[in-house]
Amino acid sequence: MAKICLEAKDLCKTYIVDGYSNNVLQNINLTICEGEFVSIMGPSGSGKSTLLYTISGMDDMTAGKVIFDGTDLSGMNDRQLARMRLLKMGFVFQQMYMMKKLSIMDNILLPGYQAKLASREEVNKKAEELMRRLGIIETADREITEVSGGQLQRACLARALINSPKVLFADEPTGALNSKASMEVLGEMVKANEMGTTILMVTHSEKVAASSDRIIYLMDGDIQGELALGKIGASDDEHDEKSAAEILQIRERKVRKWLEEMGW
Ligand SMILES: Nc1ncnc2c1ncn2[C@@H]1O[C@H](COP(=O)(O)OP(=O)(O)O)[C@@H](O)[C@H]1O
Ligand SMILES: [Mg+2]
Repeated sequence: MAKICLEAKDLCKTYIVDGYSNNVLQNINLTICEGEFVSIMGPSGSGKSTLLYTISGMDDMTAGKVIFDGTDLSGMNDRQLARMRLLKMGFVFQQMYMMKKLSIMDNILLPGYQAKLASREEVNKKAEELMRRLGIIETADREITEVSGGQLQRACLARALINSPKVLFADEPTGALNSKASMEVLGEMVKANEMGTTILMVTHSEKVAASSDRIIYLMDGDIQGELALGKIGASDDEHDEKSAAEILQIRERKVRKWLEEMGW
């Protein structure tokens, strides 16, 4: 049995707006093991982003517990949470903008320099490698206003991976991308996952979700179903003679069928 990496126990989140309370997450119980790649799907407004924010300690919860890497987040102060996020978590969130005064390259380098897990030379090298693989090396010296939405999204992923996080949280990481760029970003996430990074990702794309090990269906702040796909190539119908494209098609069909059952 793999080691548990992230666990939510009866996690609740209520927003109070104009005196009315909105129970956005209702007793979420979720266990994610080290090395897993988990997708969250569900209708708009079902609480997917809220789940990512609260389970990562970016936002506080109303009730329940989150245990990350053996530590109860509720026992940590803001400074400890910030340190833990810097060293062990990576974020690709649409609402989280990069620093306006820094170039794309400097934005990617910054958390690497702050964490001090490696020398500056090593961080530089890693940033360059990530940017090359993500096809954004030519944007290195540009300001964040001088690149496309898709390039910015890829830069966010490079920044999120700079410290080789234990867990990567990604909220629709391919949302602003065309299908070719989506597959490049996804490929980079799969690679990070193969190298040991656990991933929790929100996506609307069946094709993107098809590369994950497990999909959780969220509706009205409640986990309504789960589809276990396993690692790519691990199941009986995904063996050797089939090409990678065929295997992905099989997985995508499974996802589509399951989503229909869930009322997608
Ligand atoms: N900061 C906030 N304040 C008040 N209500 C919020 C806030 N963030 C989200 N909500 C509400 O929580 C619900 C779920 O939102 P969200 O988690 O963004 O859903 P999803 O990501 O699945 O589309 C929505 O009804 C939304 O209006
Ligand atoms: Mg959302």
